[in-house]
Amino acid sequence: MREVNLVIDDVQIVVPEGTTVLKAALQNGIYIPHLCYHPDLKPAGVCRLCLVEADGRMLVSCHVAVAEGMTVRTNTPEVAKVRRVAAELLIADHDAACLSCGKNNSCKLQEIASFVGIDRDRLEGLKAPGRRPVDRAHPFIVRDHNKCVLCGICVRTCEEIQGACAIDYAYRGYATKISTFGDKPLLESVCESCGECVARCPVGALLPKNGAKPAYEVKTICGYCGCGCGIYLGVRGGIIVGVRGDSSSPVNQGNLCVKGRFGYQFINHADRLTTPLIKREGRFEEASWEEALDLVASKFWELQEKYGPEALGGLSSARATNESNYLFQKLLRSLGTNSIDHCARL
Ligand code: SF4
Ligand code: SF4
Ligand code: SF4
Ligand code: FES
Repeated sequence: MREVNLVIDDVQIVVPEGTTVLKAALQNGIYIPHLCYHPDLKPAGVCRLCLVEADGRMLVSCHVAVAEGMTVRTNTPEVAKVRRVAAELLIADHDAACLSCGKNNSCKLQEIASFVGIDRDRLEGLKAPGRRPVDRAHPFIVRDHNKCVLCGICVRTCEEIQGACAIDYAYRGYATKISTFGDKPLLESVCESCGECVARCPVGALLPKNGAKPAYEVKTICGYCGCGCGIYLGVRGGIIVGVRGDSSSPVNQGNLCVKGRFGYQFINHADRLTTPLIKREGRFEEASWEEALDLVASKFWELQEKYGPEALGGLSSARATNESNYLFQKLLRSLGTNSIDHCARL
């Protein structure tokens, strides 16, 4: 691909043709505030925070591609003024209770407010009247419209990545909000609960219901089905408190389904079996793996001798890896039966 030379804030930059000005700047360590841009999605150009000046014109840097010989300035007095107004208007209509917000310290709006230097007192008179109800009906997702900045990242995620199209902009002016069809709670919509929108929301408008900030993360593979999506398990105090997709995984590129993202409570659940159980005189008793496997093997031999190999059958689990399922069918076939099935075809 052809390369393009340009200058951003006196830094000489070379990027492939077609790169946007915003990407070119970010890739070269030059920060331009941005809220509605997300690297996984098509640009929307709705927040107007990424304005820059190029060759005497003001332009939206997330939308405009670089051009040969372009000279870009990211912080002229005019740019700073327009950006400040755009940021102030967003913050004026925002319920900024940062200390009690689940996004505190990882929030894009906080980052922008601090970069632009917002004077909150000046905005008091601009506040929209009234609070909107917070949607807590969903088992995994909390939606707080009072914190939404209408960046549309959730809408584009739902359409471009998940293909569910469960949400979109609705109403006008101060009443504008992200809504499901018929403005129903998310739970009653066609939402598939994948949480992809939650993972990308730049502020605290979409949060996982039961999440806590992890102390550290462990890279692993989701154990729910044979797809093998890459995940990071978030751990705090020895307990798993969240899951996020591994964007470096070629299998899922960071995306997850509802089970992979939200179905992790079983791992630390008190009822979870941690040893095999053997039924003796009508009651299940804890046993070692050796005991359990010896019992299964002896029953297999017993049945095989009594009724022939075709009397045996095996059902394996989607929770095993594809490799384990392959080995399981090999084992069954080596015992002389083709009666094998599994639930790994999710
Ligand atoms: S979304 Fe961001 S700015 Fe808003 S309350 Fe939460 S942390 Fe603060
Ligand atoms: S959870 Fe998934 S399906 Fe539901 S609104 Fe978000 S992106 Fe769409
Ligand atoms: S819910 Fe989050 S991602 Fe969706 S428009 Fe509001 S701020 Fe943006
Ligand atoms: S990031 Fe460019 S307009 Fe929002």
